Amino acid sequence: MAAGDSDRRQIEEIKSRIDIVDFLSRYIEVKPAGKNYKAVCPFHNEKTPSFMISPELQRYKCFGCGVNGDIFTFLTEHEHIDFVEALEQLAKEAGVQLEKRGKSRNKHLDILEMINSLAAIYYHKQLKSSAGNKAKEYLKSRDITKESIDSFQLGYAPGGKSLYSHIMTKAKFSKSQLISSGLFGEKDGSIKDKFYDERVIFPIRNSRGKVIAFNGRIMPGIDFGPKYLHSPETPLFHKKETVFGLYKARKALRKEDLAILCEGATDVISCHQNHIDNIVAPLGTALTEEQVQSLSKYTKNILLFFDNDSAGQKAVERGFLICTKVGVNSFAANTGKYKDLDEAVRDNSEFVKKAIKSKQDAFTYLISRKLNQTNLEDLSQYKNFIKYVGILLQHVETADDLSFFLNKVQKLSGIQKNVFSSAVDSIKGGKFRPPSLNNPTPQEDKSDNSQINPLKNFEYYLLGIILQSGKYSLLKSLKIHTKYFSNKTVTSILQAINKLRKKGEVTIELITNEIENDTNLASVFENLVLDSQISHFVENTADINKECEKVYNRIKKEYLEKKRQKLRSQLLLEEENPNSESESINSLSQEIQKLTRRMNKLM
Ligand code: CTP
Ligand code: MN
Repeated sequence: MAAGDSDRRQIEEIKSRIDIVDFLSRYIEVKPAGKNYKAVCPFHNEKTPSFMISPELQRYKCFGCGVNGDIFTFLTEHEHIDFVEALEQLAKEAGVQLEKRGKSRNKHLDILEMINSLAAIYYHKQLKSSAGNKAKEYLKSRDITKESIDSFQLGYAPGGKSLYSHIMTKAKFSKSQLISSGLFGEKDGSIKDKFYDERVIFPIRNSRGKVIAFNGRIMPGIDFGPKYLHSPETPLFHKKETVFGLYKARKALRKEDLAILCEGATDVISCHQNHIDNIVAPLGTALTEEQVQSLSKYTKNILLFFDNDSAGQKAVERGFLICTKVGVNSFAANTGKYKDLDEAVRDNSEFVKKAIKSKQDAFTYLISRKLNQTNLEDLSQYKNFIKYVGILLQHVETADDLSFFLNKVQKLSGIQKNVFSSAVDSIKGGKFRPPSLNNPTPQEDKSDNSQINPLKNFEYYLLGIILQSGKYSLLKSLKIHTKYFSNKTVTSILQAINKLRKKGEVTIELITNEIENDTNLASVFENLVLDSQISHFVENTADINKECEKVYNRIKKEYLEKKRQKLRSQLLLEEENPNSESESINSLSQEIQKLTRRMNKLM
């Protein structure tokens, strides 16, 4: 449910009274960068600043990890508090009297939380009652203690419609509320428990400790239905953002400055029983970027602890790629002779603790293993190995990290590191080039506007410089005409600026208002206003006008070149056509010559 109108008004009022640059300066060190400010991103691990703050937009964006937002999102994410807490804190600071939020605060989510919490209590009681005797036996056979049963609030679903009958004695929930909780489904018009067969129940909590979903393991001996069944996606529960055990692990994650990622809930519980508390698990699926992102708020070090088999190796590969993408350090260890971590920690917890202590960085771990499986004397295996390294390193952004990995693989394989760096480049799709007007036109990245790299597109580049330098008058002095631009987004923003120029005043805020109805435009605009590479450029360039003129000429030249290509192919057709008139051939060649002269003048 979106914030109501009065909420929105209060939020705007608070934002107008607290300057984002002042506010963020209390948490991070900010330095001016042109009209913007920059800082080392507090949300991922980096050494050179790519976290940009725009006083004009009153927003920030990190060009390393992608986080972006305003003072509210900053406070909630930096301090791990929820929106209401952030609102209260900022209102106080701004001297804004909050109107009573009353019942408007997401009532629907509250109800879903209530249903999940009632279900957790019910299932837990069932496990403790005599109905749960068989399930208790099973947990005992897995060495899961009474203390764990209580502290993880494990439960037992006896099957049938038992939860439904129970929940309806507590409150008259509507059909849609019940279904939306994820615990019920509908069949032939009647409501049915999701966990309708006999299952041991593992509640899944969010970082605030609220139960938001369940995982149920079928009782041993029953051989129909899936072994593990999770709640479906609900407004409360997003599987790809959630890890099992986060609430229990959160203090240890900070204290140990390490998050151990393992396969499943039973591994997590067994580890806790052996005083390994900084451990979480994805929910029966492969690790996701969002999960690592959420862990990175607690620690930037992740230990991928999986089984010593090829599935485990694949999981480490995936984990390493995701961690480099998010910008956190990854390590790896495996369960050795044991089939899984649960078995290992139950049989010999010292073995597991030692494995944690002697963890390797995940890249070294993977390369060593791969080399053991590879004969470098064989040409195709040699090539595959180089490609493997290229793929692994494709998301590594910082120079330090890259040189660390390249040195490592050179040392381990004996192959010169530049071989690998070209493999990385070719996987990334070409070397990164700083904007050089002599380069051939870089390919425009059309995939995703939020990922625009203005250094790879002259049109974005020119607009970005104008926006960040505030030199809107260049539109007039360079006689910038939108017909030369091929990118529709850039054209629309230029048109908005022109419109405002005619009215008399151009500011970032006015442009924002002008384009706010088009979310695609707005997001490109925000990226350009905040782009750190452009800020760096604007800050360090003495003659911005001159640079803009060069870039504009380059854009014009591209336009003319396209036109010339067209005429040339027309000419070719005419020349091959026996019926064509010499007049039309002549006029075509003249036009081509004219274009060539215009282009030469632009040099
Ligand atoms: N898991 C899951 N969803 C699945 C498969 C596994 O959530 N579809 C998680 C569970 O948390 C489980 C862990 O992965 O605890 C280990 O999986 P597995 O060994 O298959 O489950 P066990 O219950 O240990 O089964 P078994 O007794 O056959 O080893
Ligand atoms: Mn198992």
